[in-house]
Amino acid sequence: MKLSKILLSGAAICAATSAGAVDLEVMHWWTSGGEANAVSKLAEAWDATGNTWVDGAIAGGGDTARPIMVSRIIGGDPPAAFQFNHGRQAEELIDAGLLLDLTEVAEANNWKEIINPPSLLDACTIDGKIYCAPVNIHSWQWMWLSSAAYEKAGVPVPANWSEFMETAPKLQEAGITPLAMGGQSWQQNGAFGVMAVALGGVDAWTKVNEGKDAEAVMGPEYTKVFEAYGAAREMAKGLNVQDWNQATSAVIEGTAGAQIMGDWAQGEFALAGKVAGTDYECLPGLGETGVLSTGGDAFYFPVNSDADITAGQKELAALLVSPEVQVSFNSAKGSLPIRGDVDLTTVNECTQKGLDLLKDGKTIPDAASLLSPDTTTQLNDLLTEFWNTPAMTPAEVQQQYADIIASAD
Ligand code: GAL
Repeated sequence: MKLSKILLSGAAICAATSAGAVDLEVMHWWTSGGEANAVSKLAEAWDATGNTWVDGAIAGGGDTARPIMVSRIIGGDPPAAFQFNHGRQAEELIDAGLLLDLTEVAEANNWKEIINPPSLLDACTIDGKIYCAPVNIHSWQWMWLSSAAYEKAGVPVPANWSEFMETAPKLQEAGITPLAMGGQSWQQNGAFGVMAVALGGVDAWTKVNEGKDAEAVMGPEYTKVFEAYGAAREMAKGLNVQDWNQATSAVIEGTAGAQIMGDWAQGEFALAGKVAGTDYECLPGLGETGVLSTGGDAFYFPVNSDADITAGQKELAALLVSPEVQVSFNSAKGSLPIRGDVDLTTVNECTQKGLDLLKDGKTIPDAASLLSPDTTTQLNDLLTEFWNTPAMTPAEVQQQYADIIASAD
């Protein structure tokens, strides 16, 4: 080996180890059983490097956690790292210069070549600089169904939304709530988004979410969606739960028939020892329009004046994207890896359906990459009002939805 190369590799090793071990506080909202199990894979991998993961879990979901994270950052007491969804949630923090530029880490680890789909890294990139490490692909476009509930009701597990609605009265007769829905507004907006794609079609959904086309909201495809959403509201009566994972538990226990929820729900089924295709079934696109949305989670790293922390942040960013962590974390989380060059060791039948859609390019962006956080909050508020106000009609919510989209950014 040439001397210059030996010197160079020696320098690289020094740079990598000079920081010494650091404690990094990592904030996230992964507090359900399945989520906590998944995040422990990240913590174990980080601790195995000799550094220490200081867990900053916040209960109550993303809508509760994000403002707390932001106030820590702008208040001058930032964590070393924090989870946001892929998309536009960090725009203002980046504009304010509060987040660490990871471009050097991304280049050293070939993120541009390995991260798939490329939209995930695009969502981390502002003015050519990379500010986040994507860790997974989560899709909202799923319904999870309880085999036990349908068996008890004496009807086959539905294969699509129409069958779900047709068989719902049988479940109700058997004392089972057909649709499990938690009380938080993001769950009601999320389920509406899934129904819009599945029942209104990808074109209409894209016009509304990407094109901010209020006329499309008033068009025939979305009219169908609002009506179906009104009917779904009736199917959710009788189960009063708040958190998404409590709704998932009802499906696991067979006290509810189904839940429209992102594929993080699989972490709960897995932890409860339930087997896809036997104990539960899954319908991407509600069995109507098979597509995957490519949302998920990314980690951002607030700027820190301590050089050791900065070095540790970069080391952690690289580790999160590494093949080993991608496999261990995503296998527990119910999500798909963000790199095309790793295989999940053993995937169940639902994850396989997701992988097939991804391979066939049947993907759409997540709404969080298209709509600003402010618009999303307005839609959350509107849909939760509808969900909790029986007197509010589908036509009324449709008009108000169109008004929000007309002024959306
Ligand atoms: C999403 C996040 C998922 C999952 C879910 C429920 O925003 O992307 O990882 O944790 O919230 O907490």
